[in-house]
Amino acid sequence: MRKAATKEKTKKKSSVASLRPGKLNSFRPDSEALFVGVDLGTCRASISASNGIREVVPTYVGYPKDNISEELLGAEPLFGEMALKHRLSVELIRPLAHGVIQDSNKSSKNRHLVAAQQLVRHLLEKAQPKPGHPVYGVIGAPARASIASKRILIDAARGILDAVMIVSEPFSVAYGLNILDRALVIDIGAGTVDLCRLHGTLPEEQDQITLDEAGDFVDETLLSLIRKKHPQAQFNVNMIRALKEQHGFVSENADRVTARFPVKGRPKDFDITDELRTACRSIVPGIIDSIAQLIGTYDPEFQEAIRSRVVLAGGGSQMAGLASLITQGMEELGGGKVTCVDEPVFAGSNGALKMAQRMPKHFWQVLV
Ligand SMILES: Nc1ncnc2c1ncn2[C@@H]1O[C@H](COP(=O)(O)OP(=O)(O)O)[C@@H](O)[C@H]1O
Ligand SMILES: [Mg+2]
Repeated sequence: MRKAATKEKTKKKSSVASLRPGKLNSFRPDSEALFVGVDLGTCRASISASNGIREVVPTYVGYPKDNISEELLGAEPLFGEMALKHRLSVELIRPLAHGVIQDSNKSSKNRHLVAAQQLVRHLLEKAQPKPGHPVYGVIGAPARASIASKRILIDAARGILDAVMIVSEPFSVAYGLNILDRALVIDIGAGTVDLCRLHGTLPEEQDQITLDEAGDFVDETLLSLIRKKHPQAQFNVNMIRALKEQHGFVSENADRVTARFPVKGRPKDFDITDELRTACRSIVPGIIDSIAQLIGTYDPEFQEAIRSRVVLAGGGSQMAGLASLITQGMEELGGGKVTCVDEPVFAGSNGALKMAQRMPKHFWQVLV
C-alpha cells in the first residue's frame, strides 16, 4: 500500500524561528541589505536575490578522493555540475538526499551539514553580496523537515547569512504566486512530492502530505521497465533521467520516443514510448489519493474553492500532460482545475525572496 509518509508540523513556531530582539537593533537599513530566497531541494538548489541574480545548481558537493584527484582538481570542494562531471574522482555527497540534511552521527560537524553549509555559501557567492553589507535569507526546506533538521538548516546558514527564516518549500511557492488562501500546491521534486493546502495562515501538520514516490522513483521505474524489455541495452540511471527530462509525458497519445543505447559497445535505437508513459504515470495515483485526503478533510464550505485551484510546481511538474491527467483523476472526486507554475525551477526561491523582502523584522532569526 502506498504510504502517505511523514507529515510535517509547520506551526508558526517551527516555521519561523524565534525572535531574538537584542540583535535586531543592529540590522542595517533595508536599502543596504541583500535579500535572498533559497530553495534547497534534494536535487537542485536555487537562489533568487534582490539584486536580480538567479542561479541554480544541482545539490551535489564533491570532495577530491586522494592525492591524485587533488592534484587534478585542487583541494577545494566541487559543486553542482562540476561535482557530477568529476564524480569518479570525488566523494560525492547529496546533502539533502532524503529531503532533510542527514545528521547521522548527531555531531554538529558531520559531513552532510558541512556540505550543505558549503553549498549555501557557494550559492550565496553567486548572488554577489557586497562586502560588509548584511544578507537576509529565507530558506525553503522540504515540507517534512523536522524541527531538528530546521535547526540544522539554521546552523548551515550561520556565518553566511546575517538573519534567516526557514519555511516549508510548497509554502514558499504559494507565497511567490500569491495564492495563500484556498489553494493546493503540489511540489514534485526528486525525492518527495509535497502537497500543501493553503487557507490564509501558515500551514499546519494536517495541511501537508509528503509522498516518497517522486522524480527519483520515476527514474527507477523507467530503468527497470527498459531493462526488462531490452536486457541487452547498456545504460545507467543518469542516462534514464536525462531521457525523462527531455521526453517525459503522461498523455495517451504522444510521438514515439526513441533512445540510443549501446549493445556490447555498439549504439542501437530502442523504442521506449510505452515504458516512459508508464513510469511517468506511476506517481499519479498517490497524488490523486492525497488530493482526495486534503480536500475531504477540509471545511466543506471551502472544498469547492480548493479543488478549483490546484497548482503543480517542482521539476517533475514538467512531464507533458500531467495537469490534464490529474484534472481527469479529480473527476471522481467531484472535479477540479489543475495548472502548472510558469517557472518550476525558480518558483520556490522567488517565493522565498518575496517573503524575505516583506517579512517584518520580528520574524527573523538573527545569526551570530
Ligand atoms: N523537463 C522535465 N520533465 C520531467 N521531469 C523533470 C524535468 N526536469 C526536471 N525533472 C525532474 O524533477 C525532479 C527535480 O525537481 P526539483 O523541483 O528540482 O527537485 P528538488 O526540489 O527535489 O530538488 C527530478 O526528478 C528531475 O528529474
Ligand atoms: Mg523542490
